[in-house]
Amino acid sequence: MAGKRIAIMTSGGDAPGMNAAIRAATLVGRSLGADVVGVERGYKGLLESAFVPLTPGDVQGSLRDGGTMLGSARCKEFHRREVRDRGRDNLANHGVDGLIVIGGNGSLTGALRLADPDEIGGGRPLSVIGLPASIDNDLGFTGMSIGVDTAMNTIVEACDKIADTASAHDRTFIIEVMGRDCGYLAMTSAIAVGADLALFPEAGKPEAEIVEQIVETVTTVRTRARRSRRVLIIKAEGVAIPMERLKQEVDARLRERLPGSEGASIETRVTVLGHVVRGGRPSALDRLIASRFGNVAVRALLAGASHKMAAWMPAQDLPATIAAVSPFDPKIWLVDLAAALAETERLIAGQSPLTRWRAGAFDEIEDALLL
Ligand code: F6P
Repeated sequence: MAGKRIAIMTSGGDAPGMNAAIRAATLVGRSLGADVVGVERGYKGLLESAFVPLTPGDVQGSLRDGGTMLGSARCKEFHRREVRDRGRDNLANHGVDGLIVIGGNGSLTGALRLADPDEIGGGRPLSVIGLPASIDNDLGFTGMSIGVDTAMNTIVEACDKIADTASAHDRTFIIEVMGRDCGYLAMTSAIAVGADLALFPEAGKPEAEIVEQIVETVTTVRTRARRSRRVLIIKAEGVAIPMERLKQEVDARLRERLPGSEGASIETRVTVLGHVVRGGRPSALDRLIASRFGNVAVRALLAGASHKMAAWMPAQDLPATIAAVSPFDPKIWLVDLAAALAETERLIAGQSPLTRWRAGAFDEIEDALLL
């Protein structure tokens, strides 16, 4: 094992907990006799040969910090074969045997291509392990990705605050949360804050239906004999209706639906949480999952594994040809990277059994909330 060089990079949208994964991979790799280096600014940095040594002293202080100590970037050029060849050359010139890519869908696709034996040809062999990191939780075959728990906690904290003022004024708030094409964060945080409605792209509802759904929810809450008539609606950013337009359409319909002065005075408020959701100190769970991912990734690489993604307790039963519990940690699986990325496509398109289950569960929750 001594003499192997492992490179670590973070790529794409940063996620709280990335530093914990870098730290664990560095500490474990060094303790097993490997040389560990970081690549700064993801694939962009790889193209510039931005390699930096990583020692225990470099990573010790980073565990509690959000973002990523290595920096990150989105690198569209990496879709091109000749650009990947340059990246591979840089890895080979720096004597890298194994690469750990910490990132989301696009970043792990880049890793798979980088280590494609057809593209490597007679060049220096390269092993890769992907660590799922994206607040969107849109990667297939992993129960959680790095950053999701912190993002969810951030949303819950923000929504709790909004709920206070919403209750005081009997107002309706529509709160947009990140998640790209995936509604996971909107769905789970809606449950955690006791929201009245969650809007997510997997439901596939047209705009008019969404407006009616909101109006129905607001009217139901306002006609209930309850102290608070506040309404909280969490909308995933993947529901691609601009917030201002949604507000105007909802207010216009509510004026028609609600009688007299109540309808006339109604005004929906909108809040876009945006990048606030992606920052902040990683939660204990994110630090733990990320550290366990980092540990498994290094050990797997040094044991000769490649083209795998570490996964946190997948929700589906997976065939042994695709996934197995890692021999290094009973809660971390090693799944075939290509299969995980194919499942990611299905998940994002709303075609995986998991997305269909989530959408179905929300139909039932909505029915219960409208009683
Ligand atoms: O994938 C993570 C994410 O934060 C998404 O939720 C969001 O749509 C996107 O990245 C925003 O990316 P950027 O910061 O590059 O605009």
